[in-house]
Amino acid sequence: MKEIINGLSVFLEGNSKNKSIIFVHGFPYDHTMWKAQIDELSKKYFCVTYDIRGLGESPVGEGQYTMESFVDDLEGIIIELKLDKPVLCGLSMGGYIAFRALEKMEDKFSAVILCDTRADADGNEGKLKRAAAIKRINTEGLAPFTKDFVTNCYGDYYKQNHKEEFEKRIAKSTAFNPVGVKGSLLAMLGRNDTTEYLSKIKIPAFVICGENDALTPPAVMKAMADKINGAEFMIIKNSGHMTPTENPEEVNNAIAKFFDRTKLF
Ligand code: MLT
Repeated sequence: MKEIINGLSVFLEGNSKNKSIIFVHGFPYDHTMWKAQIDELSKKYFCVTYDIRGLGESPVGEGQYTMESFVDDLEGIIIELKLDKPVLCGLSMGGYIAFRALEKMEDKFSAVILCDTRADADGNEGKLKRAAAIKRINTEGLAPFTKDFVTNCYGDYYKQNHKEEFEKRIAKSTAFNPVGVKGSLLAMLGRNDTTEYLSKIKIPAFVICGENDALTPPAVMKAMADKINGAEFMIIKNSGHMTPTENPEEVNNAIAKFFDRTKLF
């Protein structure tokens, strides 16, 4: 079921009386990247996902976003749906939103699942890359940027064995409004570093990384997970940066086992 909350397209699956999980997608994607998780987990949990402002079906608005405004959007959805301490699950940019949300209001969540993401902010090189990406979109249009970016996100196994889905993924991102895509790039460029907060996280944390993740590699993510008290870290086989779509079975099993172990539900 789809609902519009504060202008955002929000998607609800499962029984709203069950414990809830809120999924926050990565860049430049939309809520559909969580389809395999929601199909499975909505049998037992109330699954909520949404399109980040400016991406997917959510409106671009003025197109100027910050990580803070993305966190405000997340908080608005939680308040509107009266979610009681949902599990927060974010991938990459969704993870940046999750980290800042924890720093700001950890008590609103019961656990966190961090997929292929990092807590540190963009360094100088990263900031210049974002600027170059914006310039490229302005001069060449969105298509060459999304093709290269999405290609870098996915591992070889998926690209070779799921050619059609992979091409569809590129086409979907290429159809986004370039203003919204550039707004996300600026929000990521300007985000704060949440590394200091890692050791303060109190809720159960599960950190997932694709074995061939070129953007947030396993060594980087393991070092990050080690800073979170009691965090569990898992490497997902045959996967690059997009673990939930590249190896959904392993990710779904891992999440189910994490819930069993933490006895959250
Ligand atoms: C993502 O998957 O959300 C992006 O790789 C994040 C980023 O560009 O830093």
